[in-house]
Amino acid sequence: MPLASLIEMYEKANAEKYAIPQFNVNNLEFIQAAIEVAEEKKAPIILAASTSAIKYAGIEYMMAMVRAGAAGVSVPIAMHLDHGATTADAKMCIDAGFTSVMIDASKEDFSVNISTTKEVVEMSKAGGICVEAELGRLGGIEDEVVVDEKDAFLTDPGQAEEFVRESGCHALAVAVGTSHGAYKFKHKAELAMDRITEIKDRTKIALVLHGASGVGQELLDKAIKYGAELPGAKGVPDEAYHDAVARGINKINIDTDLRLAFMGAIREYFTENPSQFDPRKYLAAGKQAVMVQMRNKIDLFGCAGKG
Ligand code: G3H
Ligand code: 13P
Ligand code: ZN
Repeated sequence: MPLASLIEMYEKANAEKYAIPQFNVNNLEFIQAAIEVAEEKKAPIILAASTSAIKYAGIEYMMAMVRAGAAGVSVPIAMHLDHGATTADAKMCIDAGFTSVMIDASKEDFSVNISTTKEVVEMSKAGGICVEAELGRLGGIEDEVVVDEKDAFLTDPGQAEEFVRESGCHALAVAVGTSHGAYKFKHKAELAMDRITEIKDRTKIALVLHGASGVGQELLDKAIKYGAELPGAKGVPDEAYHDAVARGINKINIDTDLRLAFMGAIREYFTENPSQFDPRKYLAAGKQAVMVQMRNKIDLFGCAGKG
């Protein structure tokens, strides 16, 4: 199929209360892994490239691989820009054929975040491109401020309502206590779940959970067994996905778990096969491990069979 409209994919996910996984991709193996698993699970998925992924792979290579993969399957596959920093980033991706873009002006003042997002919404209208924005601040909550002040960094439901009304965005990334990478929580892994409910009640649109990797013990154990150093790594517990989806999250972003799985499997491969040097062999081992993570997330997010 040609790349799918994320606006339509969200309509179904919102009505039927499930979340579509966003799998971040940088290379052929991750793209193939995601599309093969989506077809196997009959699940809709979102492939995402950050600006650094685009710089690494090249936008033309990236789109050619994604289009080739999507053309061979029957499930909806959307292509999304992750954390676009400028309107120029968004335009570049819309011009290249992405079906969704994120404009992340969350570090700007509230009014600048609205006006920047609005600009991207305007430029995306003609092509029916989905626009995701972000409100609040992800990450470093425990590091930067004392616990009493951490609420100031989370998404405010009243502001979210105004933001969505004024900007016209289709999806909103919310800050509810998660952060990017493998070190999300110093102490207890906790998300501000009530906030998700309140934001959903006020905005009704698709809500997005960033920094959502699980950083599971099995992944860590394997990577560490074969030489990785990841002291204190911790992620989102599986139970939290179910609760977050029930409260209105419709897209969950996963990058770190895929990176950890790929790395752990390749380390294992080289340890077990010290004389091998064919990239098709060790990359295939990495790809298989990434596919295990993807299958698991599709099941946890409730989107198997929804494609
Ligand atoms: O949100 C960040 C994503 O994990 C992408 O990371 O900029 O290293 O590609 P990256
Ligand atoms: P993780 O680092 O938790 O995988 O989050 C990825 C993400 O939010 C990409 O936008
Ligand atoms: Zn993110």
